[in-house]
Amino acid sequence: MDELQGSITLRDGRTAVVRPLEAGDSEPLTAFFLGLSERTKSRYGPHPFDRETAEKLCSSIDNSHTIRFVAALDAVSTQFIGYIILSREIWSGDRERYSFLGSFDDTACFAPVIGDAFQNQGIGYQMGSHVLACARKIGLKRVILMGGVMAENDIARRVYTKLGFRQLGEFITHQHGDVLNYDMMIEF
Ligand SMILES: CC(C)(COP(=O)(O)OP(=O)(O)OC[C@H]1O[C@@H](n2cnc3c(N)ncnc32)[C@H](O)[C@@H]1OP(=O)(O)O)[C@@H](O)C(=O)NCCC(=O)NCCS
Repeated sequence: MDELQGSITLRDGRTAVVRPLEAGDSEPLTAFFLGLSERTKSRYGPHPFDRETAEKLCSSIDNSHTIRFVAALDAVSTQFIGYIILSREIWSGDRERYSFLGSFDDTACFAPVIGDAFQNQGIGYQMGSHVLACARKIGLKRVILMGGVMAENDIARRVYTKLGFRQLGEFITHQHGDVLNYDMMIEF
């Protein structure tokens, strides 16, 4: 798994290691999940953010279909500041909207979140670049956003565009009123 490890630099000069989640990570992952604000969770919903979920994810690691990358601050390696899912398990709604692709064999979906205190400091872009480089390295041909991105999420859309994703169709979700979302995809 060493080939999936990288390093990023915060604006204040501190560094963080980006690596796949490991079995022993349930405490820092729980702390990271519990620390996410309601605002952040309203924009990012791949699964619940509680201890039970963190423990389940750490005890069922299978990097052959889903790699969960975490960014750990070097100085306090038990503090996670970012989490990105790269998964070959494509949600059924995404499969329907991307049915024009024909096959999802070489496709993964991508879902990033950065801890609230660390957002908008260049970490999402750096961590995302590393994860996409890994996606390429393991032979994936394209990456789509898991569940799209809300139109009003300007920071996320900016980061995805900088990473090389291009905007495709749009769709409306109705869970919290009518919300406009965009699909975005990058091809290698
Ligand atoms: C989306 C997210 C992962 C991005 O990571 P990040 O570390 O905050 O982003 P970065 O600091 O790398 O980059 C932010 C970019 O947005 C820009 N930006 C900030 N505010 C902006 C705004 N209101 N409008 C447009 N762009 C904005 C920044 O200037 C920066 O671009 P630049 O590097 O060209 O200057 C992170 O903010 C996050 O976790 N948000 C909550 C959860 C979420 O929305 N996840 C994605 C769901 S689809």
